[in-house]
Amino acid sequence: MTGSNALLFDETQANIAETYRPLSSVWEGSDGELLDAMLDFYPSIDPDPILDATYNTGRIWRGSTRAESIVSMDIDPQYEPMILADNRTMEGVPDQEYGTVVFDPPHVGPQGRDKSVKRFDVDFGASVECGKEHGWTLSYLYPPFLEQAKRVLKPEGLVLAKITDMVNSHRSRWAHCDFMRMAEEAGFTVCDLIIKVRTGPMQSNKWKVAHHARKRHCFWIVCRNGSCCERRPPANSL
Ligand SMILES: C[S@@+](CC[C@H](N)C(=O)[O-])C[C@H]1O[C@@H](n2cnc3c(N)ncnc32)[C@H](O)[C@@H]1O
Repeated sequence: MTGSNALLFDETQANIAETYRPLSSVWEGSDGELLDAMLDFYPSIDPDPILDATYNTGRIWRGSTRAESIVSMDIDPQYEPMILADNRTMEGVPDQEYGTVVFDPPHVGPQGRDKSVKRFDVDFGASVECGKEHGWTLSYLYPPFLEQAKRVLKPEGLVLAKITDMVNSHRSRWAHCDFMRMAEEAGFTVCDLIIKVRTGPMQSNKWKVAHHARKRHCFWIVCRNGSCCERRPPANSL
């Protein structure tokens, strides 16, 4: 770095420090507040437009200042998304259109032997296959989504993914590890992992005794469509 570049770098750092707000790795507020905080903290480029690729009814955007500007996608027409599509193909969505892609996939398969689709399954989008042929996990949904997210994101854009581990067929299935590994394999840089806690654990009506800890948290995983882990200062500031 030359002398004048070093000076500019110091000035940029000073400017960043003035507006800097730390972000905790454990979050006790709502998803909407956390989304706002992440969208302030991580972007190297304008995070808009934002595509929510598993919109459902958009509950995660409650409390977010960005709730009204989200582009919604869902595979299920009952939610009347702006883009009715499978996020593993994203047909019709142009390349390099979005600054951010948000992903909150189903995290449990249909529960038990009862194959009926219950209210819980519908609300949480868990009506997809999650049997022996899939290794009892839903992680097989991630690689085709990640390939499409990379295609529709601008360079340096972000994927923000809400991932919950699950127990299925009597074993812990570490979906967040699968997602982080698969994101790196798809060419993203996994920048951060935030633990979001809720006040009470989810309870099943069916399983009265659990042999694993009742989960009271999920993960928000932050991935960048580029090689830089940290936020890059705007190009014209260096
Ligand atoms: C856990 S819910 C999302 C909840 C949502 N974030 C909210 O706050 O209301 C998962 C959603 O993903 C949708 N989904 C599942 N597979 C999909 C796919 N391949 N493409 C697009 N949407 C999908 C389901 O229809 C369901 O609405």
